[in-house]
Amino acid sequence: MKHTHSSLTKWSISSRIFHWISAILLLVTWLMIFLYDNLDTKLYIGLHKAFGISLLLWMIARVINRVFTEAPPAAAMPKWQMLLSQLSHFALYALLIAMPIAGLMMSLYGGRPVDVFGLFQIPVFVTPDRGLARLYNDWHTDIIWPIILTFTALHIGAALYHQFIKKDNLMSRMK
Ligand code: HEM
Ligand code: HEM
Repeated sequence: MKHTHSSLTKWSISSRIFHWISAILLLVTWLMIFLYDNLDTKLYIGLHKAFGISLLLWMIARVINRVFTEAPPAAAMPKWQMLLSQLSHFALYALLIAMPIAGLMMSLYGGRPVDVFGLFQIPVFVTPDRGLARLYNDWHTDIIWPIILTFTALHIGAALYHQFIKKDNLMSRMK
């Protein structure tokens, strides 16, 4: 075999598809709330919720895929970088699941069913509670979101570091 260096061992095709679609869904979900905040129409909040629920379902499928497919051996790197990478990958998974759940709970405790692209509706299966709606709103916007931004910035920063400083072609594992 010619390429035995671990950084050239790719992620499985399913893992690569899960990765990039998750990133796109995150971007689109954010874009929808950005449009909602900046345009004078109610259209985008519904789309924000629908894309957010889509990301939740996608992440659940992604976790199942992660458990049942083999990850490539870790690329060679110092131990602290390895730990940081594993911690932030785990955190990103957890955050992308916690975020839409918090959004969903905010809506349901606010007494609003959630419609997903007109395909199906998540009914209000809890007893509406303003205090809890407020609490989930705080988690959604003020706690989990800034942490997602921090880990995503760290993640993309790490990818750029591998690409342009270490030049070890790590990116090709996920392409
Ligand atoms: C991973 C998926 C999600 C991400 C990344 C996300 C992101 C955000 C962000 C950044 C905001 C705050 C925007 C601002 O500061 O004004 C926000 C607001 C909101 N999100 Fe999400 N969201 C997601 C999923 C959901 C879901 C699934 C629902 C409901 C079913 C939801 C409902 C809401 C609502 C109602 C607001 C407005 C809160 C307010 O105006 O006070 N989100 N979301
Ligand atoms: C421009 C954006 C992005 C780039 C260039 C990128 C790049 C990469 C690369 C190269 C890997 C493989 C690392 C390795 O082989 O050790 C990876 C893994 C991963 N990325 Fe990204 N990524 C991006 C966006 C995101 C976003 C937005 C998220 C989620 C918020 C994310 C979550 C993950 C996770 C969880 C893994 C670990 C793989 C797994 O266990 O399934 N990535 N990324």
